[in-house]
Amino acid sequence: MRFDTPAMTNPIDQGKVVGQRIHRIDGPLKTTGRAVYAYEWHDSNGRYVYGYIVGSAIAKGRIRSMDVSAARNAPGVLAVVTSDGIGDLKKGKYNTAKLFGGTEIQHYHQAIAVVVAETFEEARAAAALVKVDYAEEKGAFDLEAAKDTAVKPEEGEPDSAAGDFDAAFETAAVKFDQTYTTPDQSHAMMEPHASIAAWNGDELTVWTSSQMIDWWRTDLATTLGIDKEKVHIMSPFIGGGFGCKLFLRADAVLAALAAREAKRPVKVALPRPFLMNNTTHRPATIQRIRIGAERDGRITAIAHESWSGDLPGGGPEVAVQQTRLLYAGANRMTATRLATLDLPEGNAMRAPGEAPGMMALEIAIDEMAERLGRDPVDFRIINDTQVDPEKPERPFSHRNLVGCLRTGAERFGWQDRSKQPGGRREGNWLVGMGVASAFRNNLLVPSGARVRLDREGIVTVETDMTDIGTGSYTIIAQTAAEMLGVPVDKVAVSLGDSRFPVSSGSGGQFGGNCSTAGVYAACVKLREAVAQKLGFNSPDELTFSGGEVRAGDRRMPLAQAASDEALVAEDRIEFGDLDKTHQQSTFGAHFVEVGVDVATGETRIRRMLAVCGAGRILNPITARSQVIGAMTMGVGGALSEELVVDTERGFFVNHDLAAYEVPVHADIPHQEVIFLDESDPMSSPMKAKGIAELGLCGVAAAVANAIYNATGVRVRKYPITLDKLINGLPEVS
Ligand code: MOS
Repeated sequence: MRFDTPAMTNPIDQGKVVGQRIHRIDGPLKTTGRAVYAYEWHDSNGRYVYGYIVGSAIAKGRIRSMDVSAARNAPGVLAVVTSDGIGDLKKGKYNTAKLFGGTEIQHYHQAIAVVVAETFEEARAAAALVKVDYAEEKGAFDLEAAKDTAVKPEEGEPDSAAGDFDAAFETAAVKFDQTYTTPDQSHAMMEPHASIAAWNGDELTVWTSSQMIDWWRTDLATTLGIDKEKVHIMSPFIGGGFGCKLFLRADAVLAALAAREAKRPVKVALPRPFLMNNTTHRPATIQRIRIGAERDGRITAIAHESWSGDLPGGGPEVAVQQTRLLYAGANRMTATRLATLDLPEGNAMRAPGEAPGMMALEIAIDEMAERLGRDPVDFRIINDTQVDPEKPERPFSHRNLVGCLRTGAERFGWQDRSKQPGGRREGNWLVGMGVASAFRNNLLVPSGARVRLDREGIVTVETDMTDIGTGSYTIIAQTAAEMLGVPVDKVAVSLGDSRFPVSSGSGGQFGGNCSTAGVYAACVKLREAVAQKLGFNSPDELTFSGGEVRAGDRRMPLAQAASDEALVAEDRIEFGDLDKTHQQSTFGAHFVEVGVDVATGETRIRRMLAVCGAGRILNPITARSQVIGAMTMGVGGALSEELVVDTERGFFVNHDLAAYEVPVHADIPHQEVIFLDESDPMSSPMKAKGIAELGLCGVAAAVANAIYNATGVRVRKYPITLDKLINGLPEVS
């Protein structure tokens, strides 16, 4: 099905199942431990052996030689696969860094060997016996130091401009110019990367933890130099990803190589202390923002420049994306610059671009509002736009940022915010409120599915879509249930298997809308097959409801259409130009109240509210879970999360969850989420949009702005740890 005109009224609009508060259909499996994750797979064909990866101890250079004799002779060892024995493996399409092979070291903890043994402990002990002689080279590890060497990236659209920024800024009545920094961040999802690889002749099956089944399948085949048809990927349950599992990783490659060498199925997991330097991270940024405005608060000029770094061949963190679209202003420019750094690969982490971009932009907007003497909610509303401000002929498909801000201000009690920073004190707590807009683009990605109706009236959906904890199982079941007029418990959903039709996968907050749209398309075909089977010309003559098909006075069980044989339909949603003629984005507003301890500078979040305008909400429970999870991640970004770079040796020092601090339950207070009642017919037949990453974009700035309102101390360098506040706090009386 090609989607190239705005969606008309369709069966989803009934809202009998879609849009309802339905608990996760995979919930019981997860809460009872019966959902089988990558590392837990087992079958009756024999037990698995264990692979343990050796990581490079240098960040840049070459392996002169490796001595694996002691490891090979250690107890229980079955095989040792080394990179210098294997030659350069081909790099997959989606990887920047080489995952394995050859003697060149591109980053610290790059995989250089895997030791296979009967037990995990034996493999780990033997791995410690591998001796490596390195030729170390000097690398670049410090973004600040490398900033001036940054260049305009060759791919993408690094720069944009409209009007004449320089002239307008020069003559603006009120001007603002500040620079912000965001640190390297780690995805820190709960489940580490893990794979079990088993060969059957020349056919490879890998049980793994992947957000994008087809990307992994393609890139694993490329990396191993085998036919894609010979590779089978399974990833039905996933303990979080946040972008770290978008692209093939070393665990899958090394499990496959190790299993081939050991002639046994091999399990490989990335231990947490290995993961943060071996895989990917969100790159640090330096962001300069300039704003010029009239005294009445209208923006006349806005510029956003961002610098980040990556390995050679990598890409930038496009932190300026939202500034192209969020606020009006006739004269504007954005620029993205990329430095070469020899740190581990920088890549997508939840809301790549907008998440760190909003961390900077939304403080800048708060600062400019103050300079203009305007309320920060009003300042944002004054500068709303209904068209792409760089290309005014392009309207937004749907945009209600103003509604999000107004609703939020009212519900949060914004009028009680102290106008003066440091103006509200409760005992030892300095109390403040902050606001930020939320913004994330809505991406459209083709997605396929297969649906089957059997004689019992059970509808089975198969797609290689993944559920990374987001609720894909549930919203896909709801979609099929609505389309075929059956209750959710008559729908079986199978995901995460490369034998199923290729889906959008889970990334960029597009999975919810796009994968259900693919299921919609397949169900449209199944409705046609049902109509035909029952002797009707078109499904339009039929009502699908209550497990029955009705036409006029005639009614029959849906299952009757499958009484001879199961009916199977497969289709794929493809998107036309609606995301080019119309800018498709999601909007929201984040409100935060903090208390800052006047003596210690410790920040505690007291209340949080997100108001989201993101098209039809397919399931308010799973959508809310996405948003509160994202808000929690935003608190981490504001207050604690930072990969600390050793700028001499070139690695992330705090590479475990003891030292890379993410929020825990005790850090997170009451969170509230409001969804505006909207739908976007330009987005898909589902009229839904992304929601998961919207919940993150803006949160950290709202926290920063609340801290400023509480204390009068403006911190422009994330995370806002107490050392950055304490010297500015009032004397303790
Ligand atoms: Mo998201 S960074 O696209 O998993």
